[in-house]
Amino acid sequence: MKDSFGREINYLRVSLTDRCNLRCKYCMPQDGIDKFTHDDMLSLEEIYEIIKSFVSLGVDKIRFTGGEPLARKGIVELISKVSKLDGIKDIAMTTNGILLKKFAKDLKQAGLHRINVSLDTLDPHKYKEITRGGRLEDFLSGIEEAKRVGLTPIKINTVLIGGFNDCEIETLVNLTLDEKIDVRFIELMPIGEASAWAKDKFISNDIILEKVKTLIPIEREDPSSPAVYYKLPNALGKVGIINPISCKFCDNCNRVRLTSEGLLKLCLHSNKEIDLKKALRDGEDLKSFILKSVLKKEESHHLEDGEFLDKNMNQIGG
Ligand code: GTP
Ligand code: 5AD
Ligand code: SF4
Repeated sequence: MKDSFGREINYLRVSLTDRCNLRCKYCMPQDGIDKFTHDDMLSLEEIYEIIKSFVSLGVDKIRFTGGEPLARKGIVELISKVSKLDGIKDIAMTTNGILLKKFAKDLKQAGLHRINVSLDTLDPHKYKEITRGGRLEDFLSGIEEAKRVGLTPIKINTVLIGGFNDCEIETLVNLTLDEKIDVRFIELMPIGEASAWAKDKFISNDIILEKVKTLIPIEREDPSSPAVYYKLPNALGKVGIINPISCKFCDNCNRVRLTSEGLLKLCLHSNKEIDLKKALRDGEDLKSFILKSVLKKEESHHLEDGEFLDKNMNQIGG
């Protein structure tokens, strides 16, 4: 399936829920988020129908996100069904890792290939502070279990927060030395209600290369990945740098997003949404509706024009 700029769209990111068992300060407000009601949300059967249509149109990579995707009941069964679809090459999940101890084995058995996990600090007190209550030990035991059952390779997503974790850059980079784990630093995005909190905490990813002079640039394996990769000498894993705002990888963008309330987002940074749930519930032909919708994907984002997201990150899934 191609968009109107000739880009092959083969990657669907599916947000299963806006709920989360943590409340990271850059992602969610402290309380009072408008949770979608049961009827607003797609059922798992509806999500499966939509994924099936996308796969039949050439999508071969699915990523489940949230909120926290493992907070949605029935996820293991959904993955099991999706993994049996003809043409699927990659099923991945972006998770906070807290529930992996419980779910990793079943997820692997169901057909999940790999996980990206969020980790902003290795200090238990700071972890508790930034996630508003999370326990680092739960995260660590979740990752151990994921490694044990082979949900690999694992990528760690670290949001760079000025005055909070810039002092831990070397320690986090060193996680790539002895294990095949990638650590990716993401620049803080001022999104939704967390944007006020984020305002004075942005630091540029340039600081990574300034602090760790031994990082060697490596060739881009996947041109549609938001990350630019480096490596420490002799390290098993890579260090990725993601500049979601300043770096425009739009030319190679291959992805669209489905929110848990059934809206199709053609770009992470756009407020435009197409109501796929309505089309599905009205009995429209999903495949032609999707083909038509994808043609509306814009050439690039317009953040420089001041178009910032009005949703919170937990409603979009990164
Ligand atoms: P891989 O399949 O492992 O390459 O994962 P991914 O990087 O696509 O997924 P992940 O959920 O780990 O995303 C990490 C971060 O990449 C997100 O939080 C965003 O900051 C950034 N990102 C992902 N998709 C987009 C996108 O479409 N546009 C922009 N600008 N940034 C994105
Ligand atoms: N800025 C940058 N990254 C964010 N994430 C969530 N909120 C933000 C934000 N405001 C990251 C999480 C997760 C990824 C999908 O998005 O750390 O790993
Ligand atoms: Fe939950 Fe992830 Fe948002 Fe943290 S960043 S509150 S773990 S969805």
